[in-house]
Formats: sequence, C-alpha cells, structure tokens
Amino acid sequence: MSTPTLAILGCGTMGEAILGGLLAAGALPAEQLLATHHRPERCQQLAERYGIRVFESNADAARLADVAVLCVKPQVASGVIQDVADDLEGTLLISICAGVRNAQLEGWAPRARVIRAMPNTPSVIREGMTVLSPGTHATREDIALAEHIFQPIGRVRTLDEKHMDTVTGLSGSGPAFACVVLEALADGGVMMGLPRDVAVELAAQTMQGAARLVLESGEHPAALKDRVTTPAGCTIAGLLTMEDGRIRSTLARTIQEAARVAGGLGQDEEPSGRSSRS
Ligand SMILES: NC(=O)c1ccc[n+]([C@@H]2O[C@H](COP(=O)([O-])OP(=O)(O)OC[C@H]3O[C@@H](n4cnc5c(N)ncnc54)[C@H](OP(=O)(O)O)[C@@H]3O)[C@@H](O)[C@H]2O)c1
Repeated sequence: MSTPTLAILGCGTMGEAILGGLLAAGALPAEQLLATHHRPERCQQLAERYGIRVFESNADAARLADVAVLCVKPQVASGVIQDVADDLEGTLLISICAGVRNAQLEGWAPRARVIRAMPNTPSVIREGMTVLSPGTHATREDIALAEHIFQPIGRVRTLDEKHMDTVTGLSGSGPAFACVVLEALADGGVMMGLPRDVAVELAAQTMQGAARLVLESGEHPAALKDRVTTPAGCTIAGLLTMEDGRIRSTLARTIQEAARVAGGLGQDEEPSGRSSRS
C-alpha cells in the first residue's frame, strides 16, 4: 500500500491524539500529515509541536489529501464537510464525529467514499480502541487503509453501523468512566493513609494489569475475579461492598445512557438534557 497523504480536519483533542499517535508510531511521515484549525494560534502551535503543515482552510488541506479525517464536533460537521465537498472528490472521508451517520456524510460529500470511525483518547499513547463502520461506497481497499491508519494507535474492529452509538458510549466515552473508577479506587487508598501519588499509581497499574489480563488470556473477567477471591477473605469482602453500591448496574446504565445521548449528537433534534460536548 503506498503511503497516503492524510489531513486531520479540525485538530482539537481527538485530532491531536490521532496525529500524535501516528507520528509516535512512525505510521506516516510528517510530510504526509496535514492538519487544519480555524484559529491561527492553534495552527502555529500544531506546526511547531509536530513539524507538519497546518492550514486555516479546510479546503486547502482537503485538496491535497488522499484521506480526510473529520475531527470537529458533531454540531459543526455538516458545515465543514459541505464547504469542502468539491475538494473531497475521490477522497476517503473518515468521520470520527459521534452520532453522525454514514448516510448524512454521503449526502454532504456525495463524491467522497465514507467510513465512520470511533476512536478514543488513549490513541495518543497507542492504546486506543477504534471501531470502523464503512459507508455505501467504501471499498475493501478503503477499509484496509483505515485499518492501516488506526492500527498503529491501538486495536481496530469493523462493525455494522447499527452498533456505532453503543461503541461511542462504551469505548469512545469509556476513558472518562474508567478514570472515575480509577480515581475512586485511589481515594480509598488515600482514605487509608496512602499518599495520593502512590494511590493513583497503584490504582492505574492495577486497572491496566486487570484489563491486559482479560485481553491477553481471553478468559471471562468473572473467572479471573473468582481466582483471586479466597473464602472469607478481604477480596470477597470488598466485592460484596461493591455489589451493595449497585456498581454493576450503575456502570452498565452509564453506557446505556451515553449511547442514547450519542445517538442524538449531530442530528437536528437534540435529546433532552444533553450537553454540547461528547
Ligand atoms: N473527546 C473524545 O474522547 C472523543 C472520542 C471519540 C470521538 N470523539 C469525536 O471527535 C470529535 C472531536 O472531539 P474533540 O473532543 O476532539 O473536540 P475538540 O477538542 O473541540 O476538537 C475539535 C476542534 O475543531 C476546531 N474547529 C471548530 N470548527 C472548525 C472549523 N470550521 N475548521 C477547523 N477547525 C474547527 C475546534 O476549535 P474551537 O475549540 O475553537 O471550536 C476544536 O479545536 C467529535 O465529533 C467527537 O464526537 C471524541
């Protein structure tokens, strides 16, 4: 596969996570990475930080790109894409915008081939989780190219588009939920006398270790939990306290609610009580 020129349109938090991850992995050379931002000071900051070409004009970057990765907020996606629709002729457009459907993207940029993607912020340290969902005109080669772009920055899966709002609630928003759990575990350590930095390190490494154990062993999490649960021991005492707090249903409902709200982002009708941020 020849090296494509990739443009990140709207390089904010996620755009920078993808950009930083691709550069750290050496997946694309800096000269084939472009970014855009509508504020000149941000353009200058990105150019200095990454040594790449950064444009204030989305059209200028789109014209040069083989692949355009749309990283603006869902609410402005339609305006940005319709402004550059002619410049996206023959381009692979990958949108990471929560809630924005392939059919919408194909309507705004009819000459582009479209893939919807949902990455997450750990992409910046190459521990991301990205789910891809190809649009009507995306080819096998396009999917392979999208995998090639996201694989260096974490795991990649391709799923039917009907799952994308759930994916957004689980792995897209998930790092925030995991940080709350991590912080709460650390709080317990602090309550029992550990210094904060030690407690955070212990909680973070423990969560990372448990997660890797699940991924690498392929075992069910319940089996791994049972293995460390001694009868009448401290772990079962802690587990029952978690169950008293209904932690399972709280976390499961967290994903359900995040997925529900994700489904309304980028749509004309906003679900009640949603914020403008994903
Ligand atoms: N954050 C996450 O964890 C996460 C995870 C997965 C997917 N996503 C999706 O990723 C997308 C970006 O999220 P984010 O958190 O990275 O948002 P963000 O930090 O706000 O990034 C978007 C950037 O685009 C800029 N921008 C706005 N209008 C523009 C235009 N016309 N041309 C060029 N740049 C423009 C914004 O500038 P201003 O700040 O000046 O408006 C902002 O810096 C969203 O669609 C979201 O659904 C986010």
